[in-house]
Amino acid sequence: MSELKLLINQFYSAWRTIGFKRPKLTWTSLCSCNCHAGPEVGLKLRVKKGSSNKVIKGRKKERASCQQVLDHFDQQYSQELGHLWASARAVLLDPHSWQYGVMLNRFSAVTDITQILRSQGFSTLLPQTDASSLLCGGSSTVSNSEQQVEKDSPHDTSKGPPNDSHLLPNITSHAFSQDLQSETSYSLPHPSLQCYIHPYPHRFPSQAHRPGQLKQYYLLNAASLLPVLALQVRDGEKVLDLCSAPGGKALAIMQCANPALLCCNEPDPHRRNWLAKTLESFLPRSLNSRVIVSAQDGRSFGQTEVGTYDKVLVDAPCSNDRSWLYSCSSQQGEHRLKERTRLPALQAQLLRSALTAVRPGGVVVYSTCTLSSSENYSVVETVLNNCPDAEPEDLWEEIAVPLSKYFAFSPAHADHGGETVPKPSLQPLNVSSYHQRHGILVVPQPGKTWGPMFLSRIRRRK
Ligand SMILES: C[S@@+](CC[C@H](N)C(=O)[O-])C[C@H]1O[C@@H](n2cnc3c(N)ncnc32)[C@H](O)[C@@H]1O
Repeated sequence: MSELKLLINQFYSAWRTIGFKRPKLTWTSLCSCNCHAGPEVGLKLRVKKGSSNKVIKGRKKERASCQQVLDHFDQQYSQELGHLWASARAVLLDPHSWQYGVMLNRFSAVTDITQILRSQGFSTLLPQTDASSLLCGGSSTVSNSEQQVEKDSPHDTSKGPPNDSHLLPNITSHAFSQDLQSETSYSLPHPSLQCYIHPYPHRFPSQAHRPGQLKQYYLLNAASLLPVLALQVRDGEKVLDLCSAPGGKALAIMQCANPALLCCNEPDPHRRNWLAKTLESFLPRSLNSRVIVSAQDGRSFGQTEVGTYDKVLVDAPCSNDRSWLYSCSSQQGEHRLKERTRLPALQAQLLRSALTAVRPGGVVVYSTCTLSSSENYSVVETVLNNCPDAEPEDLWEEIAVPLSKYFAFSPAHADHGGETVPKPSLQPLNVSSYHQRHGILVVPQPGKTWGPMFLSRIRRRK
């Protein structure tokens, strides 16, 4: 018993060290966290307040869904997804069932957080033996030749930023920024994208900002990592994140490899500030010269930087199904549905711009967080029809098959009338390889509530 108490004290002290925004945990709460009795377990973090215990985390506030948006989705998605829509709809309408991923930050000390996550029943989404080691392209050190690439890069900050609206995050001091003042002879922590997930809808608390310290983890929908895995960033590459705020995927890229340059572009000033804060909270100051923020309209970015980047991510503005479903008024819902009709044109322009910015032989990943085929497959198809030197690549074997244990994938195209939709995460028997090559779609399903997320990878021919 005394050993157990000691363990709990250690746990508690680590919890405080990490700086969660939460009041004191009780003995009871720790016991609750460590049992794995069922889906509600993760929600039982309690705080003593007076004589009553109340749940402080995990439960989302009840929010009503917007009927206009739901009606629209019912009409469109029952056609596009067939029987998959009923179960996806049930997940989207039940925020209590939503899962959350915890992406670790390799630039901070993560040992204590790993222990806590494991003790609460979290496990890694990308064990080193499978997808992460295959897909993450980094090595632990930056070689001389890679530094040369950076020196020669038009984005070397000593020669000025790619455009005049470039912002360098103003980062406070922390362990790495002190250790890594010299850009010529450092080695970074080994690149590895580590994301912890829980089998149940357990929301891990967010971490408070602590001046001078890097955050240890970032909470996200784990499906957001898939476009980054598809990008396959390697050490020394030049990478453009064309639509970057608030910066979750930029952070994931930095967990995967040590690019010579990561240009994070975001034209919206408010969101750009948010992006800069994210970068500041997670990345050491020594990376300021290679992780830069730019403020261009993504539609014209390609023209200003033709053939410059090895990899470009277009995580496009889209009709974010999860959040749009909870539009706060019918007017907002109506407004968004109008906006929805305009999005494919903008998305196609962004994708074209990305294909101009990427070098011959380089790769563009296009992603959205909507199930809508007109913002997904159709955008890719439209752009490819007028771009003979761009070729879509098949992500089914590379991503959907190895990760089907966690995510429900559908490669189906819109025009199936509900008849040929494969079961999620099964080999697509009735879907032509043509459509499969245009992208894969993560459809939220009970027990695999990640998504929506569409991703497509396009290579520019040499
Ligand atoms: C889906 S969000 C990106 C999320 C981000 N990649 C992440 O992982 O945190 C799309 C972003 O595109 C930005 N955006 C909108 N119009 C744009 C444009 N014309 N060019 C570039 N970005 C644009 C939006 O302001 C928004 O921040």
